[in-house]
Amino acid sequence: MLFEKIKIGDLELKNRIVMPAMCQYSSDGTGVVKSWHLSHYQTRAVGGTGLIVIEATAVDPDGRISKNDLGIWEDKQIEGLKKLVDLVHEGGSKIAIQLAHAGRKSKATDEPIAPSAIRYSENYSKPREMTKSEIKEIVAKFSMAARRSEMAGFDGIEIHAAHGYLINEFLSPLTNKREDEYGGSIENRTKFLSEIVDGIRENWHKPLWVRVSASDYARGGNDVEDTVEVLKILGKRIDGVNVSGGGVVHEQQIKVYPGYMLENAKKIRSQTHLTTIGGGLINSYELAEFAINSHCDLVFVGRQLLRDPYWPLKCAKEAGIDLEWPFQYERAKIY
Ligand SMILES: Cc1cc2nc3c(=O)[nH]c(=O)nc-3n(C[C@H](O)[C@H](O)[C@H](O)COP(=O)(O)O)c2cc1C
Repeated sequence: MLFEKIKIGDLELKNRIVMPAMCQYSSDGTGVVKSWHLSHYQTRAVGGTGLIVIEATAVDPDGRISKNDLGIWEDKQIEGLKKLVDLVHEGGSKIAIQLAHAGRKSKATDEPIAPSAIRYSENYSKPREMTKSEIKEIVAKFSMAARRSEMAGFDGIEIHAAHGYLINEFLSPLTNKREDEYGGSIENRTKFLSEIVDGIRENWHKPLWVRVSASDYARGGNDVEDTVEVLKILGKRIDGVNVSGGGVVHEQQIKVYPGYMLENAKKIRSQTHLTTIGGGLINSYELAEFAINSHCDLVFVGRQLLRDPYWPLKCAKEAGIDLEWPFQYERAKIY
């Protein structure tokens, strides 16, 4: 199953292995792609990954996690992203971009924004509560970023609504204490994300999915049932979901073990019927196959792909599956 084709929306992938977004903090303050990104991502494409989601890419300079994040807030950044897309395609993978705003977890500004003026921890600045016009501005920035993603030639967009960054801060009752139509009920807390989806859809007609923190792993926070509600509100406007977790509050309690977020992926898949990407410490071929057979449609493999860019090719070889290798490496396929 792992090496069978699958579609997210109308995007066909050669296998079900997804490299999830993983920040490299390797730009130079301008947000542009550097040589590190080119070799890092192309190596994973050559290694056989079906879909590469590039790291959280900021729609606004003040929405960066660090000053060295990638950015897509201005047209100057398109050229490097296009080069990256072309190299990954040449390597044989499809490529999506993760559009992000760090909200109160930005360390690129002294004045971060958030739904409510609550700081993440002592080590972070206290954010300013966003006005309604600032909300509209950020929605427009996601929409413009989608236009630039189209120009760079990406195959998919993943909205970063997980890990306690801006969108997740709106979704979680622990970080959203607003009393207007963007706070309170789950419908209200989803309004910002919903407007972002609509804004992106104005400029983007290819597959679109959302990365969620299914659970906040904290008392009083969202759990997987709340996340199902969020996804139901988005409905057919999105093509899939990438199920992650946590990152919203410092006091979270997560037990980490191989496959630790798969149960949430399974619940979401069964209750929404969205194409579902699941994972969490997937570190063996057997576990990846197990996940695909029973929990999700695709698996994300993060740190294992940092350790070993050729992991997909090696898995197939060990399982006796005859994959097409890059012709340059064919002599290494047998012995
Ligand atoms: C270096 C590093 C950077 C990360 N950056 C991001 C990111 O930009 N966006 C995101 O959604 N998750 C990010 N994550 C989380 C990963 O996408 C993934 O969910 C996490 O590592 C768990 O999967 P794994 O156990 O297979 O590594 C990052 C993880 C690592 C290790």
